[in-house]
Amino acid sequence: MQRKELRILVEEYDSVDELLEGDRELVLAAREASKSAYAPYSNFHVGAALRLGNGMVFKGNNQENSSFTTGLCAERVTLFYANAAFPDVPVKTLAVTAENSRGLITEPVKPCGSCRQAMIETESRFRQPIRIILDGKSKIQVFEGVENLLPFAFKPVSLD
Ligand code: THU
Repeated sequence: MQRKELRILVEEYDSVDELLEGDRELVLAAREASKSAYAPYSNFHVGAALRLGNGMVFKGNNQENSSFTTGLCAERVTLFYANAAFPDVPVKTLAVTAENSRGLITEPVKPCGSCRQAMIETESRFRQPIRIILDGKSKIQVFEGVENLLPFAFKPVSLD
């Protein structure tokens, strides 16, 4: 038997002002996108913004449905939107934020398991890690690659 320990790397910033300019722009774009979320059932307004390898920025938000399971998270709306428009251009960075009835949430937003899985697929497809920025009032977390958010993931190579 061998016992192994994984290292998860995360950078933490006190506020959006501490981020690199390009990252700050993406967080602000995500915050703007959260304002147009369609979330009448949860009142949890999530916004996402990503930058592609060609510099283009795509924004999205959660889209809920009266048949609850039909709705989709902001991260997947945004990834699929960008991947559909530019199927050959890698996603470099993805920022996510969320507002509840009291405004920006305190702890950095945590992408759900399905969104982490969708991020893994995008990384695999373009063979490069995505920088993930998770926004919150208390701090902002930055992860270099989805591996840090979803270790032991099922990937396209897992089908071999
Ligand atoms: N949601 C997202 O859009 N992204 C996340 O990271 C977490 C959850 C949405 C799904 C649903 O519309 C609402 O937030 C409450 O779960």
